[in-house]
Amino acid sequence: MKPIKIAIFASGEGSNAETIIRYFASKPDFEVVFLLSNKETAPIVRKAKSLGISVVICSNKDVEDISFLVDLCKTKEIDYIILAGFLRKIPNTLIAAYPEKIINIHPSLLPKYGGEGMYGKFVHEAVLAAKEKESGISIHYVSEEFDSGRIIAQYRIALGDNETVETIQEKVRQLEHQHFAPTIAREILNM
Ligand code: GAR
Repeated sequence: MKPIKIAIFASGEGSNAETIIRYFASKPDFEVVFLLSNKETAPIVRKAKSLGISVVICSNKDVEDISFLVDLCKTKEIDYIILAGFLRKIPNTLIAAYPEKIINIHPSLLPKYGGEGMYGKFVHEAVLAAKEKESGISIHYVSEEFDSGRIIAQYRIALGDNETVETIQEKVRQLEHQHFAPTIAREILNM
């Protein structure tokens, strides 16, 4: 059987993208075809190259273009797109071309702390300010509205009384690294 072709989009540190690349490297059912970043200096660009993955750098204008990403993904015969800390809005044309084939990770228990402007540390700051007793991650399909597509899985962590943004972020990161790649694999293979 031909492997399922995956593209990963990432904008920053890329610890999740790196975890996914390493996980799928030993899974013959999957092939990570390229990593796309809108930031040439993002640490993930260097990491992906050092792991032998092709890197596509694009501008924010390219991301907004109605055909750039669709043409790129269709030309490379991509089956699924994984957003791993990709902080630009995905154009509706790509969502229409890949219905329930674009998977995002969000560092909160959606629908809480989602939506425009809610990413990375801003999410954990809001969780801390609200004195939440738990937080977690949501792995979900991408739809036209920010952070509101069908949820595939959520994983939780308990929060103590002395949490800081950094401790929440660290706990959430660990959950992400543990669950993101296996959840993607299970979801795709069980379809
Ligand atoms: C992750 O925590 C991910 O959940 C979050 O950005 C971080 C990227 O970290 N994504 C969002 O906030 C999307 N709204 P990484 O670059 O180390 O993978």
